[in-house]
Amino acid sequence: MKGEVSLPGDKSIAHRAIILSALAQNKTTLKNIPLNTDCLATINSFRKLGIKIKLNRASAQAVVFGRGLTGLKAPKSSIFIKESGTTFRLLLGVLAGQGFKVKLCAGASLSRRPMLRAIRPLRLMAAAIKARKTGKEEYPPVIIQGGDLTGITYKLPVASAQVKSAILLAGLFAKGKTKIIEPFRTRDHTERMLELFKAGVKAQGNTITINSAKRLTSPGTFYIPGDISSAAFFMVAASIIPGSKIRIKNVGLNPGRIGILKALKRMGAAIKIQGSNLKTQGNEPAGDILVKSSCLRGIKIGSKEVPSLIDELPVLMVAACYAKGESVFSGVGELRVKETDRIKSMLVNLIQMGANIRINKSGRPASRPPAGRAGTGRQENIIIKGVETLYGARVSSFGDHRTAMSMVIAGLAACGKTRIDDLSCINKSFPEFLKTLNSLK
Ligand code: S3P
Repeated sequence: MKGEVSLPGDKSIAHRAIILSALAQNKTTLKNIPLNTDCLATINSFRKLGIKIKLNRASAQAVVFGRGLTGLKAPKSSIFIKESGTTFRLLLGVLAGQGFKVKLCAGASLSRRPMLRAIRPLRLMAAAIKARKTGKEEYPPVIIQGGDLTGITYKLPVASAQVKSAILLAGLFAKGKTKIIEPFRTRDHTERMLELFKAGVKAQGNTITINSAKRLTSPGTFYIPGDISSAAFFMVAASIIPGSKIRIKNVGLNPGRIGILKALKRMGAAIKIQGSNLKTQGNEPAGDILVKSSCLRGIKIGSKEVPSLIDELPVLMVAACYAKGESVFSGVGELRVKETDRIKSMLVNLIQMGANIRINKSGRPASRPPAGRAGTGRQENIIIKGVETLYGARVSSFGDHRTAMSMVIAGLAACGKTRIDDLSCINKSFPEFLKTLNSLK
């Protein structure tokens, strides 16, 4: 694998940029915006809430005409979020502060993902929220009536940047201060962007405080750096495919997202960063990532590290198959409640290709799991022993883009041909991924 790639903008940053631009006083131009189905779900939601957003697909730009913190309008009908968990949970935070009622609906997979983690703190802040209940958990659709919120101090039971962000966004509208304590640090894109838009947010260790805001001020233009979660697939591919040398240009290097870089380096990957520490791009560091193939060795990932590479674990599992010795990824239960159960999808697929992999479960789930899904809060570990090679096989995407992309990388490095089924419903970032991959030699 040889060449140079530029990736679409970071999805997590893009969601937040659209949201804060919509709530700011003036217009904001967002550059390098990824127009995948998830970000379009956020754009469409705000259009339904009365925000004008102009898109230019060719130049990957959006202009958001903010209407201020009190400028959103009640939508004429329910809002359909499709499969974007980030849109759903962050929007709950924004809607908690609005004086009107909204129904949020989701696609089949997102409708099976837990929402109580975001709903519970928003209820404590005085938002009225009704959701579909199964056992102790709550799922989409959700009806939310916001307004007159009060700041809270909340200790997050799960290390989740989405939940933290929902509370921070609600905190903008709440009386007094809102304080959040994280069990482990998660990506801080919301905090950085709130600071950029001149909101009163402060982070100290694992505690983040936000003051109620009168207004948000747009920076005018915001450049979204390349998505490190997309870069991860290329980093692993170049590391395990002999003779590879690639440069991934202008990738976001937020400290809460670079777990994959640190993990691969500990595995012995030949990775170099150029031009980091540039805080020029909307308060987010970015730089080029250079990767050459190398011999990897097994690694231990602890629970504390998991939030910094949660979306990269599937492709890291592929890297571990090609590493010498044993790898242990601890405390990865959250993978069960992503777009699909990613422990199951990767286990089934990698075993199909000849991997030596097992799951070790300990502890009890924090809440009763929904039908067909394991609960979160469970202490689960993935143990992988490296093999000489994987073998091409027939595998499945399990309807999940990150499983599909990880299997493409496993298939590229394997002996023989790999066929990935069930791709029809995958439109998150998969098409862009294939295009970029095919642009490399
Ligand atoms: C995200 C946070 C993570 C991640 C998701 C995007 C975000 O989810 O898996 O893809 O943008 O805040 P959790 O907050 O549920 O861990």
